[in-house]
Amino acid sequence: MRDKKHWPLACVFGTIALCLPLAGADAAGIDSQNFGQVERGHYLTVVGDCAACHTLPGSGHAFAGGRPIETPFGTLFAPNITPDPTTGIGAWTDDEFVNALTKGTGRNGTRLYPAMPYTYYTRLTRDDALAIRSYLNSIPAVDNPVQVDQLPFPFSMRWTLAVWDQLFFTPGTFHPDPNKSAEWNRGAYLAEGPGHCGMCHTPKNFLGADETSQKLQGYALQGWFAPNITDDARRGLGGWSVDDIVAYLKTGHNKTSAATGLMSETLNLSTSKMSDEDLKAIAVYLKDQSAGGNANKTASADPPDQAVMKAGAQIYADECAGCHAADGKGEARLFPSLNGSPVVQQTDPTTILHVVLRGALSVATKPAPTAPAMPQFAWILNDDEVAAVVTYIRNSWGNSAPPVTASQVEKTRQMLLERSD
Ligand code: HEC
Ligand code: HEC
Ligand code: HEC
Repeated sequence: MRDKKHWPLACVFGTIALCLPLAGADAAGIDSQNFGQVERGHYLTVVGDCAACHTLPGSGHAFAGGRPIETPFGTLFAPNITPDPTTGIGAWTDDEFVNALTKGTGRNGTRLYPAMPYTYYTRLTRDDALAIRSYLNSIPAVDNPVQVDQLPFPFSMRWTLAVWDQLFFTPGTFHPDPNKSAEWNRGAYLAEGPGHCGMCHTPKNFLGADETSQKLQGYALQGWFAPNITDDARRGLGGWSVDDIVAYLKTGHNKTSAATGLMSETLNLSTSKMSDEDLKAIAVYLKDQSAGGNANKTASADPPDQAVMKAGAQIYADECAGCHAADGKGEARLFPSLNGSPVVQQTDPTTILHVVLRGALSVATKPAPTAPAMPQFAWILNDDEVAAVVTYIRNSWGNSAPPVTASQVEKTRQMLLERSD
């Protein structure tokens, strides 16, 4: 117990080198280093953010499952992965555990739903997967039976998942790219493997599988839009330095931006607890991801209506400029810059509509403990007004993005009313 409390602190603030599980080709060297498999496994569960799904917030029972996981096909309930032999995974063999993570199979070879990110965890080395197992073996067993699938027909049929895997799943450990630096490869391993950034940031096809040709170019899920995090100049991280990306992943803030939605949870549970070296490696890797064929579709094809822009400018001056400033540049670390902001210019406006309608309390991480708030405008502005002000911020100060219509605003309002979170 005593040790458990101290691991995360040791990992974040202590000898950081001791917290760096090595990727790919270097993995074999790990056990020769003098630190425990359990600590390494603990760090990897943070990188893998297992708690985001397997811990029910407020339950007080880490990894005992029961949290509803939203998928485009219905809701699943994450199972108990504590060492309890009957309701958890205590009786599983190491191979069964490794296969769950890297091959997407449950006990006795049943298929798992890809809501469990095995399509990413497959890149884990066996050593890293076993380290995670060692850590999970060390936590308290909790007796908590969970009924995982409550999906509607036809998605309730697990056998169909074999077909899905056949079509969309490429199993296999991460292979370092010999033409890239060790740092780049470490970042690639973390982002594409345990960190599963693409689960939210990569567009999906109609069956929920990654569109690999558009890796990390943005995807709408759970009432948010996870933006493009390639090096795209307008909609991606092209304007951010490696240090800007590290600051964001560490604290939820950097000089221009602030995490608001789903990313706040990933930040709190996972990236803010990663070592600085690992965050830098991820940033180096992201800065090297080109936006591919979409890179030049920067200016919006559909220039906004001048009357709408004028109405938007007025609303902006009255309601927004007090915090975000007339030039949209905000105030470093307090009010995010809308000027040049990739989030503001995503083709899909879900995130900014969500923030403007519902308001947002920025993430407060340990390194940045105060959290300023964005007020809620749902009851102050009507659909036309929200559409106008959002179209205005998307197309001012050099920003450019498709105009937003009143009916898009109305749909987003509806979606938010139906969501409890
Ligand atoms: C995005 C949500 C999510 C994350 C993150 C996640 N899991 Fe899961 N996991 C699930 C869901 C949902 C299932 C159930 C899938 C099914 O039964 O088809 C599952 C199933 C499992 C199983 C099989 C258990 C059983 O009883 O069948 C294991 C083992 C497991 N996860 C371990 C982990 C570990 C270890 C991590 C972190 C490295 C992790 N998971 C991260 C959602 C998640
Ligand atoms: C659970 C879904 C989810 C996961 C997993 C996730 N993200 Fe995000 N991310 C989002 C969403 C949604 C946003 C946009 C708004 C927000 O929530 O603040 C975002 C925003 C970001 C931004 C800010 C981009 C901008 O232009 O402001 C960066 C950088 C980022 N994520 C990087 C990552 C990295 C790196 C990983 C993997 C280690 C990751 N994300 C994993 C959902 C996710
Ligand atoms: C009282 C100060 C305040 C006012 C007024 C205000 N905002 Fe904000 N806004 C914030 C803060 C603080 C955040 C960051 C909150 C967070 O990250 O959760 C924010 C975030 C945002 C974001 C998300 C930016 C990003 O990078 O994720 C958008 C878009 C936005 N505001 C637009 C507006 C618009 C449009 C108006 C006027 C209708 C407005 N804001 C009025 C304080 C304000």
